[in-house]
Amino acid sequence: MRHLPELFDANRRWAEQLRSRDPLYFERLCGLQRPKYLWIGCADSRVPANSIIGLEPGEVFVHRNIANLVNPDDTNCMAVLQYAINVLAVEHVIVCGHYGCGGVQAAMGPDVENPLEDWLSPLRQLVRASGSEEGTPPPSPNSRAHWYGLCERNVTRQVEVLESLPLIQAARDRGQPLSLHGWIYDLHDGLLRDLRTA
Ligand code: CO
Repeated sequence: MRHLPELFDANRRWAEQLRSRDPLYFERLCGLQRPKYLWIGCADSRVPANSIIGLEPGEVFVHRNIANLVNPDDTNCMAVLQYAINVLAVEHVIVCGHYGCGGVQAAMGPDVENPLEDWLSPLRQLVRASGSEEGTPPPSPNSRAHWYGLCERNVTRQVEVLESLPLIQAARDRGQPLSLHGWIYDLHDGLLRDLRTA
């Protein structure tokens, strides 16, 4: 017996629907992928990249991990960036965080077990830095405003990390069009906000 039959049924309906709309749909996609966007987002099940921005298969290259982190020591993320920029020549790299991120919240609390604790380490630094800004009262560790503020700051930080990567600088040096974006998604209304131009 096949496992998870409901998922296979849904898959068959989905493929049939697309083929009935356009008989050559899959054939064309097989030939080439030329996405303009690389999405770096949280693994959270409520933040599915393609659905949120209304893009079809073939239109966005996606990398997701807990709390949408860009860590130069993360071979997975670096390989995705390398391929997306050097081979696919995406024109936009979007880091998209979201309010209510569990990864950010975990980094505000007590240590957790590895490997998650190791993964959260850049976020812990961000949390520590946010509590030591001069002239500001120490944030309440349980405050939702503090949590949501950190979700935003995390996105901004990841864009800064991207800016510093030799891979990105090399693309710019050779004149490749490449923009970096920092966005945040609100689970409450399903809307995105651009943190860099806001
Ligand atoms: Co999250």
